[in-house]
Amino acid sequence: MIAGCACRPQSLLTMLSVSHRLSERLQLALDLCFPEQAAAARAAGRPLDPQLVAASKPEFGDFQANGALALAKPLGLKPRAIAEQIAACLQADPAFTALCLEPEIAGPGFLNLRLRPEALAAEVAARLADPRLGVPLAGIAATLDSAAPEGEASGEAGPVAPAEPVIVDFSSPNIAKEMHVGHLRSTIIGDALARVLEFRGHQVLRLNHVGDWGTQFGMLITHLKQVAPQALTTADAVDLGDLVAFYRQAKARFDADEAFQITAREEVVRLQSGDPVSRRAWQLLCEQSRREFQAIYDRLDIRLTERGESFYNPYLEAVVADLDTSGLLVLDEGAQCVFLEGVSGKEGKPLPVIVQKSDGGFNYATTDLAAIRYRFAAPPAGDGARRVIYVTDAGQASHFAGVFQVARRAGWIPEEARLEHVPFGLVQGEDGKKLKTRSGDTVRLKDLLDEAVERCEADLRRRLAEEGRAESEEFIRHVATTVGLAAVKYADLSSNRTTNYQFSFDRMLALQGNTAPYLLYAVVRIAGIVRKGGDGVETNIQGRQPLAASTAESVSLHFSEPQEWALVRQLLDFDAVIAAVEDELLPNRLCAYLFELSQVFNRFYDQVPVLKAPPTARDSRLALCRLTADTLKVGLGLLGIATLERM
Ligand code: ARG
Repeated sequence: MIAGCACRPQSLLTMLSVSHRLSERLQLALDLCFPEQAAAARAAGRPLDPQLVAASKPEFGDFQANGALALAKPLGLKPRAIAEQIAACLQADPAFTALCLEPEIAGPGFLNLRLRPEALAAEVAARLADPRLGVPLAGIAATLDSAAPEGEASGEAGPVAPAEPVIVDFSSPNIAKEMHVGHLRSTIIGDALARVLEFRGHQVLRLNHVGDWGTQFGMLITHLKQVAPQALTTADAVDLGDLVAFYRQAKARFDADEAFQITAREEVVRLQSGDPVSRRAWQLLCEQSRREFQAIYDRLDIRLTERGESFYNPYLEAVVADLDTSGLLVLDEGAQCVFLEGVSGKEGKPLPVIVQKSDGGFNYATTDLAAIRYRFAAPPAGDGARRVIYVTDAGQASHFAGVFQVARRAGWIPEEARLEHVPFGLVQGEDGKKLKTRSGDTVRLKDLLDEAVERCEADLRRRLAEEGRAESEEFIRHVATTVGLAAVKYADLSSNRTTNYQFSFDRMLALQGNTAPYLLYAVVRIAGIVRKGGDGVETNIQGRQPLAASTAESVSLHFSEPQEWALVRQLLDFDAVIAAVEDELLPNRLCAYLFELSQVFNRFYDQVPVLKAPPTARDSRLALCRLTADTLKVGLGLLGIATLERM
């Protein structure tokens, strides 16, 4: 069942706390079986690795330990003989036998491990009592990953609060320009990644790197001074739509008129040197855009800290100086450049990253270099980040590759730190071309969100009429808004972000298939079953008090049907899926998991009686329903999607 699910990445662990305990047992078995080699390996800083992974097929059990194969050579023994010794050790370990049935040796020396049914049921009970649904805090996972020696990574170890933040640079539209669908994708994907990282216990800095600096302001201010001076002195004198139009006119003049170009350049210099009139004009323009952006963020429930390009202005000179000191800077045709290693352009010529143009001006790349330097620098001079993630369209991949390489060679990236570009494909219309309105204009985000909500409302009214249900206007508005926005977000998140994405209202709003309406409906239905079952516990995970430890222990669950076990295993995979999203930054993995969970649940509910089952089976099955509803709610919440009680 589980092996057939595309959601568990190969070789990843499942049930993190269980695999953590198993790892410890295996480590101990290795120490007992091969004391000298284990001690030597540990002294060399590379402890013997039992290579515990999720079973590759359900017939093999839940886990397999593949370590015997790699140990054959150093130990001078046949892998099967090693596996037999480890198995014997494990069987003599009560902590192991409490968790697993007798290990089986397969093939050349794989150790197949099957969890005891009671251990699985206990894990379900533990998750029911845990608002985090078994997802460990990142600090614990870190010790798990490095297979720390006995004692250090015991289950009781408190979470290690990471002092260094993870930065997610997302959304990042440009001032005086309209936020477009590419920015919407970045906003939705970036927010989901930030939520997952936060849930894992990281301190996340959500940075909006807005384009609020540079030559465009010279053009715009010069043009506005002539045609709409009130925009530069009075707040809200023009709206963003007008500003965008003014910006277009300014750009056209800049390209055609040399005198205008000169004035615009002088204006940039004035702005950058802090001239109060220019500054005030610039601030007004930024505020205007900011308000428009904020309206979108509020609607989508997105939190962001604005730290635009202008923030890094005071650090640009130091970037160039630093690169010069490290000997990376080359003067090429008047521009200060760093030539990239391993990348060449036309005719095999090495490609440069230009950090200072021949006119002395800085550019997008310089600002990003300053940003990287600042983000990794230790506080108070910087953010002291451990991981920096950029969510932009794939078109910027070479920009980031270049900038990352320069930053690395300049020595600004600490050794353990991660610096990642999270690219996504283009948003296309159903015709596979760039998304446009019927009249051929670019789609405004506000209109796009409005349409999703309006269509949802129409669908809902139709459904209510068909079912002869009467609902208040407030209910209809709330459901339509929630489902409409969820549909837009989910459609984006559920496709693999690296490919182009075809925007289709019909598809995203469908009640069937891997869509938000389908999943929201599943939550309502399953929560309804639990309510009917009347176990007296609300399924609202946010409001639920974790059961006291003693209560959790006293909840004894019994499962017997294969459909129950299939659902148990799917439920218990949640923590590993979250850890995978944290690592690979692919929200579609979580979407695929949630969809698969709802499918596995349907098979269970179709084929196994719940409410009409005999008392013990009924309680255990209701518990599965409740954990399914909770897992769907928490999972959708991590995607930035709110759930409904009724719809
Ligand atoms: N403002 C840029 C754009 O609209 C995106 C900025 C992304 N972040 C960054 N640090 N470069 O394309």
